[in-house]
Amino acid sequence: MIVEQDSCEEIRPFLDQLPLGGWRYHPVVGSTNDLALDWVREGAADWSMVLSDEQTAGRGRKSRRWEMNPGKGLAMSLILRPTEAEKEHIIRFTALGALGLVQALKNYGLEAEIKWPNDVLLKGEKVGGVLVETAWMGEAIEACVIGMGVNVAHGSVPKSLDLRMPATSVEDVLSGPVNRWEMLAEILRSMMTLRDTVTKDTFIEDWNHHLAFRNHWVKFHFSSGEAESVRILGIDDDGKLNLQHSDGRLEAVNSGEIVVEST
Ligand code: BTN
Repeated sequence: MIVEQDSCEEIRPFLDQLPLGGWRYHPVVGSTNDLALDWVREGAADWSMVLSDEQTAGRGRKSRRWEMNPGKGLAMSLILRPTEAEKEHIIRFTALGALGLVQALKNYGLEAEIKWPNDVLLKGEKVGGVLVETAWMGEAIEACVIGMGVNVAHGSVPKSLDLRMPATSVEDVLSGPVNRWEMLAEILRSMMTLRDTVTKDTFIEDWNHHLAFRNHWVKFHFSSGEAESVRILGIDDDGKLNLQHSDGRLEAVNSGEIVVEST
């Protein structure tokens, strides 16, 4: 296993038993996803991971910023080298990260939900997010970087943040302390188990089972810029979100966003 010299001794015992390709810890980085994408070019093995305590240019979906107070949560990027079978279902890798977090939270007695496509919610508030970026070799997928941010400790959500939707932390919901490195190990273990199912129907069933707002009417922002009230029906095999318009029309979308207003 490749472990950089500056790796944090505190983390090591939690990761030692896991079959990672390697891991690198940096106290401060721009974005762990960028370092992971660089590492792919250097030949990083499957299940290699970049971790950081602070990101100065953390990014989320739709080029948004991802911000978290330093040392309070998890900011990590996992490098997966998909098999040929997995490449057929690469769209599911975002859910692999999100479901991994959901399963890990279950071990803490928490029922989390996935707000399609990449937000993880606890009691309707965002506790984590996933950003998958793909490294290409010509026309072929070389690797996927699954970036995940999790608000673990109380105070992880910056107060100054202009929130798109309400946010929370694991500790706020549990009302007790959580060791974030132990939680990281739980997430990794869950993802390793789930990966075996990523090409199967049961994966989509699992995703639908944890889908937030299922059968509810919500405000939806379409990629065209239009916003409309729609009913969330579920996820299909291609990871598309199936919606029902108010006139009864059905649509499957692969972009857009469910809008949850901050109170
Ligand atoms: C989102 O909510 O839109 C996704 C957030 C993803 C944030 C994580 S933190 C680790 C990794 N590095 C980044 O720059 N982004 C992801």
